[in-house]
Amino acid sequence: MRFERSHTRKTAFVAVAGSLALLASACGGDDGSGGDAKGGDAGALEGRGPITFATGKDTSGNLANQVAAWNSQHPEEKVEVRELPESADQQRESMIQNAQNKSDAFSVLNLDVVWTAEFAANRWVAELPQDKFPDLSKMIPATIETAKYRDKLYGVPITSDGGLLYYRSDLLQKAGVQAPKTWTEMTAACQKVQALPEAKGMGCYAGQFEKYEGLTVNFSEAIDSAGGKVIDESGKPAVDSPEAVKGLEFLVNGFKQGVIPAAAITYKEEEGRRAFQESKLIFHRNWPYVYAKAAEPGSKIIGKYAVAPLPGMSGPGVSTLGGHNYAISNFAKNKATAVDFINFMASEERQRANVEKTSQAPSNAALYDDPALQKKFPYLAPLKASIEGARSRPQVVKYGDVTTAIQEAAYAALTGKKPPQQAITDLQTKLSSLITQ
Ligand code: GLC
Repeated sequence: MRFERSHTRKTAFVAVAGSLALLASACGGDDGSGGDAKGGDAGALEGRGPITFATGKDTSGNLANQVAAWNSQHPEEKVEVRELPESADQQRESMIQNAQNKSDAFSVLNLDVVWTAEFAANRWVAELPQDKFPDLSKMIPATIETAKYRDKLYGVPITSDGGLLYYRSDLLQKAGVQAPKTWTEMTAACQKVQALPEAKGMGCYAGQFEKYEGLTVNFSEAIDSAGGKVIDESGKPAVDSPEAVKGLEFLVNGFKQGVIPAAAITYKEEEGRRAFQESKLIFHRNWPYVYAKAAEPGSKIIGKYAVAPLPGMSGPGVSTLGGHNYAISNFAKNKATAVDFINFMASEERQRANVEKTSQAPSNAALYDDPALQKKFPYLAPLKASIEGARSRPQVVKYGDVTTAIQEAAYAALTGKKPPQQAITDLQTKLSSLITQ
């Protein structure tokens, strides 16, 4: 089953990428010449000296260490971090604003995997010659695909991301229940756990439901985990299906019936993590970075949680593929230094150091199979499965419009403004106008 699934997904990706290329040329976003009209020739990554690194708020807490390791070895080519907001959408806006001003304020950009097409088609980031990045051959293939646009490379995967189900292992054990594989099993487990005196008042489940990129992720996972899909193998919107409605209903009914606490409508990653580690949730969908964070001083659940693959409608669920690629701004000076810094961060040594401190998902494949690391971090095995089985969000140049449409539909349903079926039908209409013009 697993092989069949991942094969289907790969085929889907190739098809999607192909149709998006058509879309891009239809929009005039790419002249197809392979040259680099606004930012100089591809491959001309020259200039050495200080650079900057624009990245979302470092919720891992380890970026400063990684950058300090580079800076101590490269006193003439120091990297200065430009920390952007925590929300993915706000990071994107800030990077786009800089690019539109042709500003050289950001040299290396920490791009979310969903932004590659938009940044590449607009020539905001430089095309990267693969032979300048030796560690690429060691990376999980799916992560490299996220950094490509029209078969060319525009970023180097540094972290991947897959959704995980965090759960209170102490309470599940006490209630005599196993980690759930389905949503029904999860709600049944909650009822048993909530009957324990120490679990009084705890919420059953929460993911990220604030209106931002995280909602697109959680909505897509609910649809995919019910057997639906947001786009089909050829890249066309295919969200209007009974399966997708059922997936959305899981979230909508969850809010209505109190399985998902009302406060979760304001949760991004960090709000959810805090609720989980303040012992307010039995189950929590989040990314791997939470594994290390929830073990830090101040957490109320140290030694009391574990992770499992996401549950689904009638069996294990499907994660959305997340992660970040480092790209080079076309308007940056000192691009040769940028290349070296990216290689430094992509190296197995730096990736290992980062996993050990932060539990973020590395892009380097071998680290997941390292017996010593697996022993120390039991989340690595479910995480690799989550990433390998993960489904991509639409890889489109107009990703900003597409994600806004998804967020609006999902939010309207979760807040009771639209019945799930109507939200899904309206989304299909909207996506069709954005994707097949
Ligand atoms: C994580 C993922 C990223 C996703 C974001 C949503 O940072 O790595 O791909 O878009 O969460 O909040």
